[in-house]
Amino acid sequence: MPRPVSPVHARPGAGLFVSLEGIDGSGKSTQAGRLAQALVAAGHDVIQTREPGGSPGAEDIRRLLVSGAPDRWSAETEILLFTAARRDHLEKTILPGLARGAVVITDRFADSTRVYQGCARADLRQTVDALHDRLIGRDPDLTLIIDMDPHTALTRGLARQSGEDRFEERGLAFQTALRDGFLALARANPQRCRVIDGMRAEAAVAADILAAITPFLPQGSPA
Ligand code: ADP
Ligand code: TYD
Repeated sequence: MPRPVSPVHARPGAGLFVSLEGIDGSGKSTQAGRLAQALVAAGHDVIQTREPGGSPGAEDIRRLLVSGAPDRWSAETEILLFTAARRDHLEKTILPGLARGAVVITDRFADSTRVYQGCARADLRQTVDALHDRLIGRDPDLTLIIDMDPHTALTRGLARQSGEDRFEERGLAFQTALRDGFLALARANPQRCRVIDGMRAEAAVAADILAAITPFLPQGSPA
């Protein structure tokens, strides 16, 4: 085994690292906002962030990733850009947040690379895992996977007209493969992943998310 190149770890026991994952338009950003609000109202120190992005340098890289033609980058270049953005996000936002004891809620993290780039090019999945081990070296304490029908999610997502549709333009078959990919990840990582049914009203989804996170909060904390 090669020695990892400067892996990054937060102090054990400090803060709580939570990711929201799922296909495009599944309600991650909506739920990240609701969760952050609920935890702040309950007195927690919360950092709400997102990928690609979440730090000034990573937001610069995001602009390269989410706009332009679908074939703008090769699969290999794309993996490097996502990983570069994630490393900066981890160094500048996530680890300092965890070190101060905050609940860090990120809209997407490494599971998105495993699933999106793994679905696009299955032969590159080992490269994704190797880069993660060597340069990121950390997964969330809890991952909430919002699961829903890709057709409904795609309609919701494209209705936003955000101008960031480079990935969404790849269509329904790709979104269906992504959904299966996220569910497979949840099955493979039952200790940190919880699947949340996203096909319901926002408040019902939010209540399930709060119930899932409560056991992970510091003892005695209200949620
Ligand atoms: P994501 O971050 O996963 O792409 P968003 O949170 O941006 O998803 O939601 C996509 C769109 O769907 C937004 O217009 C949002 O207002 C809407 N939306 C989110 N959750 C629900 C829900 N439970 N029911 C109906 N519409 C929703
Ligand atoms: P995001 O802004 O979360 O999109 P959405 O709100 O539509 O869910 O992410 C932008 C796109 O980048 C999205 O289609 C998923 C894709 N993506 C990857 O392919 N790999 C990654 O590692 C990440 C973080 C995102």
